[in-house]
Amino acid sequence: MNLDKTQGWKALQAHKKEFKDIHLRDELGKRQDNPKKYRIALDGLTLDFKHNIFNRETLSLLIDLAKEQDLEAWIQKLFSGETVNNTENRAAMHMALRSLKKAKLNVNGKNVVPDVERVRQRIYSFAKDIRTGILCGRTGKQFTDIVNIGIGGSYLGPEMVCKALCNDTTNALNIHFLANIDGHAAQMLFNNIDPETTLFIVASKSFTTQETLMNAHTARNWIVEHLGEQAVNDHFCAVSTNQTAVTEFGIDEDRMFPFWDWVGGRFSLWSSIGLPICIAIGIENFEELLDGAARMDKHFQTASFDKNIPVLMALFSVWYRNFWDAHGHAILPYDQRLERFPAYLQQLDMESNGKSVNRDGKPIKYDTGPIIFGEPGTNGQHAFYQLIHQGTEFISSDFIAAKHPDHEFYDHHTTLLANMKAQAEALAIGQTLEEAQNDQQKVFDGNRPSNIILLEKMTPFNLGMLVAAYEHKIFVQAALWNINCFDQWGVELGKTIANGILDNVSSQNQDNPEAKLNTLLSML
Ligand code: F6P
Repeated sequence: MNLDKTQGWKALQAHKKEFKDIHLRDELGKRQDNPKKYRIALDGLTLDFKHNIFNRETLSLLIDLAKEQDLEAWIQKLFSGETVNNTENRAAMHMALRSLKKAKLNVNGKNVVPDVERVRQRIYSFAKDIRTGILCGRTGKQFTDIVNIGIGGSYLGPEMVCKALCNDTTNALNIHFLANIDGHAAQMLFNNIDPETTLFIVASKSFTTQETLMNAHTARNWIVEHLGEQAVNDHFCAVSTNQTAVTEFGIDEDRMFPFWDWVGGRFSLWSSIGLPICIAIGIENFEELLDGAARMDKHFQTASFDKNIPVLMALFSVWYRNFWDAHGHAILPYDQRLERFPAYLQQLDMESNGKSVNRDGKPIKYDTGPIIFGEPGTNGQHAFYQLIHQGTEFISSDFIAAKHPDHEFYDHHTTLLANMKAQAEALAIGQTLEEAQNDQQKVFDGNRPSNIILLEKMTPFNLGMLVAAYEHKIFVQAALWNINCFDQWGVELGKTIANGILDNVSSQNQDNPEAKLNTLLSML
């Protein structure tokens, strides 16, 4: 049912009014006495939700709403491989990619785990051969640089994970990501790599994406120019669901790693799309990443809603989005290794829940996905935190940090975490006019909510749990909003218009690239 017609919605609207005279500043003090009550720990990950604006009734009403929206049934549908992506007529079974070997997870009545395992073993063997130098370039030199050519889900997840886990790698290979169609990106990359020692991974679920294909052809030309046509197969491999297009490009079947239409692009880092991760961090670490995600899957499926990390994250998010008019949600990792986590989550969240029609295509009258933005702390503090503290927007935040660092600059880590704690408190407590000594400029309203997600350490396992928690959070929000979080029709219109413009330019200039550019410039 559409959310705004439910009993739960009306109850929460009424409940919100009770918060007129309640301020986090007063609540936080009481909560400090019993911190455990406001934490859920799952192995090496803890969600601390004490900086949220709620009371026991809020949680119970939000859970009622979730029940009214059939959340339990939706989770069941997701894990049993039903066609939850109704507009594309597909399941969304990314959990099968990180399942135990003996598990049974069906899509359209077929257990997909054996296929997943078969492809995973091929990935492992290929990654091992690259890491150990068994597989070399055309001239017999060992690879030193791996370039993943892909965009969106075929880029953001692998890049984020590679950066996050770089400390854990004993691997001497340099991993690069070429995503943007801007030729400067390709040019800068080619200036810094050697064709003889570079392997390109062309990663595209569809193998039709304009940016990826253009970059892949440019890279192909670069290899051919330096090493000849025969070198293409030695210096390229592909990850895709589109075997025909990969073959046409000139990559042999044994260097193509498939995945399946039931893996959404932005949920695909656990699949063959994770090849650059596996090459970068090694097989054991990659397995740990998968195991961490599987651990979160189990928790999501089995924990009661009031103790369920993804469910609680989603319920708070719906509470702020729909009842507190929060337009934005900030992702604030106090960990430099998570520098690409906000960008990764922008796609995961905004491409999933940036919708204004329900599953049946009917317009909805309530807000859905918020604007996701962020930067690693403390950089963000000196940039956009001003608006969160004193601006007119009500914004919720997630602080994310690892308790124990992988360096010995303990003073840095203490200072980093002190800043994170201070920011969560400042947002919640604020500063009254009296405390600001009557200077209105220095008044902070406070009452800005946040979660703190603490990892024991930045291990592959804990990162796997973290990412899977957000995947499921987004699914829960979508279940409540009655939208399909697995399609992305909003990216199509711009693509179609761009193709029309390019066809027009080409028809006027045939094969003259410079003339085409001039025609386009005259149209701007
Ligand atoms: O941006 C739209 C999109 O379709 C994403 O959903 C996807 O992750 C990305 O393009 C890349 O698609 P592909 O892997 O097919 O190249």
